[in-house]
Amino acid sequence: MDASLKALFDAADRAAQKAYAPYSNFSVGAAIRTPSAHIITGCNVENAAYPAGTCAEAGAIAAMVAQGETKISEIAIVGLKSNPCYPCGACRQRIFEFSDAATRVHVRDGATGEAVTHSIDALLPHAFGPRDLGID
Ligand code: THU
Repeated sequence: MDASLKALFDAADRAAQKAYAPYSNFSVGAAIRTPSAHIITGCNVENAAYPAGTCAEAGAIAAMVAQGETKISEIAIVGLKSNPCYPCGACRQRIFEFSDAATRVHVRDGATGEAVTHSIDALLPHAFGPRDLGID
């Protein structure tokens, strides 16, 4: 793994350490790199009212948008306990909203620690997205 991807995974690891996951005990971290080379992270934040909990990717995307950025160049997702930690269906949709064909989604192979990389199209084929509503 090259240094830039390692930096992204390191940021995701640090975010996972901060996760608030007392119910599932499954901590997740996500780190987004934007075209302006910023790294923006998120972690899952659970809630006693279970459906109110939020995923790591959702937190990272919300922070990215709050910082005025709307493009994901690449995103790394890690679980503290178990890898690979693939984005859930709803998070694939969230990532798609801010992706293009070049966006890379990285998870970590649980055995080797190496990155496994996919396009968002591979993870969410035939996606419904902004284009369907006339927004490019
Ligand atoms: N989780 C994420 O943060 N991202 C995913 O894509 C998969 C699931 C979280 C949600 C919940 O807090 C815990 O992992 C167990 O589902």
